[in-house]
Amino acid sequence: MRLDKLLSNMGYGSRKDVKKLLKMKAVSIDGIIAKDVSLHVDPEKQNVTVLGERVHYQEFIYLMMNKPAGVISATEDLYDQTVIDLLDPFHAHFNPFPVGRLDKDTEGFLLITNDGVLAHNLLSPKKHVPKVYYAKIEGRVTEEDIEAFNQGVILDDGYLTKPGKLIILKSGQVSEIELMISEGKFHQVKRMFEAVGKKVTYLKRLSMGNLQLDQNLSLGEYRELSPDEIEKIKQKE
Ligand code: URA
Repeated sequence: MRLDKLLSNMGYGSRKDVKKLLKMKAVSIDGIIAKDVSLHVDPEKQNVTVLGERVHYQEFIYLMMNKPAGVISATEDLYDQTVIDLLDPFHAHFNPFPVGRLDKDTEGFLLITNDGVLAHNLLSPKKHVPKVYYAKIEGRVTEEDIEAFNQGVILDDGYLTKPGKLIILKSGQVSEIELMISEGKFHQVKRMFEAVGKKVTYLKRLSMGNLQLDQNLSLGEYRELSPDEIEKIKQKE
């Protein structure tokens, strides 16, 4: 890969900026100061440094965000702040996108990556990737609802959902539940509760596949997945 492409991809600015770095004698390859931006380098085998710091090439990034309400799961929007707007320039530079959508008012686990193959596999209806949600529901959630979800419920457009595993955490005027579903229809959790005559007043995704939301992430915060977590989420392909 060309030296200027490598450094630009890894967040050292535009190709013009990289040229300046070379002029400043800030870039070395295997200990020799680099002079030519068009030089081809292999960052795996060669020791490329900028101001003495080794440059590690990374093609993909995998981020776990605790999405806050009020922000939309898209890469750009005319009116609203997007989850990509919450990324720092280094991560945004990889051109990542959210894997699937959470509603504007939904919080919680959102995977953001530039790995299109992984995204495709996680979203494919054939893969049945489980997603677990925590929700507050207006009204009393009952054993009948558990049974109905277990059978699958009919949404407003006539679609019969796959079975959902509903757990009641608290039943009362306001109930609290966890629901595991393996599909991702538009507004699915809200519409499943509508199908049994109830309203979701708060929704948060807790997990996707075998990855759980990191409890240390505050709303709006994110972090890179560890190599182990990347392996784990890829196993769902
Ligand atoms: N189901 C919903 O209704 N909304 C979401 O954001 C995710 C699942």
